[in-house]
Amino acid sequence: MNFPATRLRRLRSSAALRSLVRETRLEPSALIYPLFLCEGSRVRREISSMPGVFNLSIDEALKEVEACSALGLGGLLLFGVPAEKDEQGSGAWAEDGIVQRGLRAIKNTSAAKSLVVMADVCLCEYTSHGHCGVVNRQGESFVVDNDPSVALLAATAVSLAQAGADVVAPSDMMDGRVGAIRSALDEAGKTHTPILSYASKFASAFYGPFREAAASAPQFGDRRTYQMDGANLREAMREIEQDIAEGADMLLMKPAMPYLDVIREARSRFDLPMGAYQVSGEYSMLHAAFQRAWLEPERAMLESLLSIRRAGADFIVTYFAKDAAKLL
Ligand code: PBG
Repeated sequence: MNFPATRLRRLRSSAALRSLVRETRLEPSALIYPLFLCEGSRVRREISSMPGVFNLSIDEALKEVEACSALGLGGLLLFGVPAEKDEQGSGAWAEDGIVQRGLRAIKNTSAAKSLVVMADVCLCEYTSHGHCGVVNRQGESFVVDNDPSVALLAATAVSLAQAGADVVAPSDMMDGRVGAIRSALDEAGKTHTPILSYASKFASAFYGPFREAAASAPQFGDRRTYQMDGANLREAMREIEQDIAEGADMLLMKPAMPYLDVIREARSRFDLPMGAYQVSGEYSMLHAAFQRAWLEPERAMLESLLSIRRAGADFIVTYFAKDAAKLL
């Protein structure tokens, strides 16, 4: 049927009608808020490129946990900003590591009961060189050595699960890490700890501000030998297939807005629960526009999140989680 019998504007004529026929919804329970834990007490240090995002000592982080629970968020994703770094990244799996201590404190609160407390599994925040694995230097050049890195990542995942993480989320992009983490968790009796795999993670310029937040910028070279080439959608599907075969329980796609087509393709091929990470640079560029009053903050923020849900993500890791939840 054609115009004038069909008039698509009929269903747009009131807020109530628009709400009734809305295809995609945003809810606080589908939003995950990242927290950057650092040493000390009463520390709340703002990231210069990420307005409203802080390095938090554990006591301050507990206040955030309270707020996130009160807002009905789905969960938290924890990162560590350790005081000391070394060549191996040993702070990542230390029993008294910053995230391990944070987890114990957070899981001890009643606010945390309503939240899924996830821990990022990676070495880059803990290594002196800033790479996500073990570095072998070969004269002027270097390689990030896959298999020794996987062993350290597996130890990190076990340590985080033992400290109370509800979910472990490997973000390193080494081959075989999901299988190794699954075996290590099972051996440690953590058979029920799910793995949220950053299955499709591209080498992206949009992680820039995060590297300030986590002080994790590589000191030499870049991450292109382990994170994926942004041009490759089919390779992303192979990464996901591989992680599912190794035992991933959920998938995380990253970044989000510049890769919505990849999220859509993954949604149509795979049935696992899938999240997307609206990364630091996506947040910072929107804030830069808000500061200049070039974009309306609330509308632009919600539209960016809606686009990620519409592309097929079940949940979103986003620095806007609290701000968005207040509006929903
Ligand atoms: C650790 C990690 C990174 C991010 C999440 N986990 C940084 C990186 O890979 O360089 C980026 C998150 C963001 O930009 O918000 N490997």
